[in-house]
Amino acid sequence: MSSRQLSIKGTILWSSPQEFFGESISLAKGKKVLLVMNATTAERLSLNRWVEELAGQASLTWIDRTGSNPDYKDVFRNLKSCPAGPFDLVMALGGGSVIDMAKSLAALSYLVDQEKLDHFLVLQSISRKEYLQFPDSVPIYAVPTTAGTGSEVTSWATVWDWEGKRKYSIEAPWLCPAGTWIIPEFTATMPQRLTLATGLDALCHAVEAYWAKSSNLMAQELAKTAIRLIVKYLPKVLAEGAHLSYRKKMCLGSLFAGLAFAQTHTTACHSISYPLTMTFGIEHGLACALTLARVMEMNLPLLEEKGDLLEALGVQSPAELQEWLDQTAAGIVRLRLGAFGIREKDLSDLVTLSFTQGRMDNNPVDVSPEDVQRMLRSLL
Ligand SMILES: [Fe+2]
Repeated sequence: MSSRQLSIKGTILWSSPQEFFGESISLAKGKKVLLVMNATTAERLSLNRWVEELAGQASLTWIDRTGSNPDYKDVFRNLKSCPAGPFDLVMALGGGSVIDMAKSLAALSYLVDQEKLDHFLVLQSISRKEYLQFPDSVPIYAVPTTAGTGSEVTSWATVWDWEGKRKYSIEAPWLCPAGTWIIPEFTATMPQRLTLATGLDALCHAVEAYWAKSSNLMAQELAKTAIRLIVKYLPKVLAEGAHLSYRKKMCLGSLFAGLAFAQTHTTACHSISYPLTMTFGIEHGLACALTLARVMEMNLPLLEEKGDLLEALGVQSPAELQEWLDQTAAGIVRLRLGAFGIREKDLSDLVTLSFTQGRMDNNPVDVSPEDVQRMLRSLL
């Protein structure tokens, strides 16, 4: 069964915080629940009373610390704190890293009862995709607190190996959340830089879904709607972060982008972003957006309906898109490699690590190492 068929299985609820509190408690009542949510998020969104009520109604295990871009050793540590026996459901409330951690724990939950559980076993299970032998995974419920990840509607999770400089994808149709609550109020206190990075991640999801080799008409329509919303409202929400109606539009844009790339996966921008994040710690969305206009320059001549994409973006050319990106990020971050400490001497290693299977080869135009080198050099 393909992930595309099941990527739309989840119920997506556009929700207020109050509706979510009531619905999630009744869902969890009497069940064995794994909650993945950072303690800092609970504090920021005043969710400690909700957690207390959840703990009163369900048998609750709370994983309360997940850093950005979790490593397989973080997955191992969290598996070690899970009690024996299967969970009835996993609930994730947070950004992409938190939702990806919840998916990873759900996928690898069969390891919890193994006597010889260590981080090598976790790495082996991820790299050899051994979790695919355990399809009766626990249902996942996701509540994104950023507008960008898309993880709440996809069937995969990113797990890193920081030491080994590798990025893994845990992917299985049953990892697509069974339910998702979209609650714009939960995104309203995001700091400006996180708003920018996650918003640009969503834009890349949409643009890459539009031009991906694996794209289709439905993904393209979803992508265009997402692009229009994001280019209109990202600058507005960056200027007035507390404006809830702008946050709502960004949540919609991110959701539509997520639904689009859930069917297509991403392409060259994401593929090139991974070593930028892994080697220089660049936030995921910024790392993807760095090459968006350059990749567009390569792809555009071969796109059948390039006019539609340009119209949705509100630009006439890749150069104008780069201008829009620079203006949108102005005052927050300079979208050039030099601003992140990357120098000419770093490029050849970055190029070598830029070719992720399933991403670079999903780009509509073949990209060579020389192309990546040229793109990155132009962005120094
Ligand atoms: Fe992304």
